[in-house]
Amino acid sequence: MINSKTKVLCLIGKPVKHSLSPIIHNVALNDLNLNYVYVAFEIEENQLENAIKGIKALGIKGANVTMPYKTEVFKYLDELSEDAKEIGAVNTILNEDGVLKGYNTDGIGALRALEKFTELNDKKVILLGAGGAAKAIAVTISKKISEITILNRTERKAVEIALKLKEKGFNAKALKLNSKNLRNEIKSAHILINATSVGMNSNESPVPKHLLKPGLVVFDIVYSPLETKLLKNAREKDCITIDGLWMLIYQGAESFKIWTGFYPNVQLMRDAALKMVRK
Ligand code: ATR
Repeated sequence: MINSKTKVLCLIGKPVKHSLSPIIHNVALNDLNLNYVYVAFEIEENQLENAIKGIKALGIKGANVTMPYKTEVFKYLDELSEDAKEIGAVNTILNEDGVLKGYNTDGIGALRALEKFTELNDKKVILLGAGGAAKAIAVTISKKISEITILNRTERKAVEIALKLKEKGFNAKALKLNSKNLRNEIKSAHILINATSVGMNSNESPVPKHLLKPGLVVFDIVYSPLETKLLKNAREKDCITIDGLWMLIYQGAESFKIWTGFYPNVQLMRDAALKMVRK
């Protein structure tokens, strides 16, 4: 029950109305009998600084930050985790006695989702996209795999990420996203991740079906619809498929741990979210 000791967690973004975060966090909080509540705040661009000051003033224990504020929020925080610095974005804030620390759990969320379905050691990964989500994934999974190829419509953005990874000693390269490059790369790949927005609420796929091969692990970070065109094609071609809800749940679980110290029941979170997503 909500009472005078209830701690508050929140989401800050715009828009937030369709977010699944309140549902997955509240179900996990109830499950562990933790006296917290998670609410969503839709914040106007010119109110971001005030909103972050409000976290301190009201003693809000933690927050998620979503589009379009993941980078802008940097300048209002007191400390940043290594992940947040490396990725260049914050999706989680912890309020520790008035000190606001920014974290990024997007990359680790994707990593946990992948690890649930496959081994990562010695694997070659193809990553489609070079936006915010792709960068978080690239930076995090490079530490666990042997080789990554980043393909993006705008090649320059893929090159920038690959260069950063190479500087750190990882085996990375960048190419333009097109059928020819996909065909060549998929031949020797074990895992393909779609971190573009292609397929979100549409019947498009970033990969032609005939290029998919049996046994390839296909992970789509898009979760609306839950089975994207890419995942449907992959299932029909006997690939191992991972939907984007797994990433959402695992990044949420990591944030939850940062705020409460407890690791939540991810299956319970997923079941709650499944009731809300387009199948
Ligand atoms: P997010 O934070 O979700 O990663 P983003 O930073 O806007 O969002 O990145 C969107 C990604 O989807 C980019 O890689 C984008 O490619 P560009 O860098 O060329 O813009 C990719 N994307 C979006 N629409 C696309 C399309 N129709 N075809 C191919 N890639 C697309």
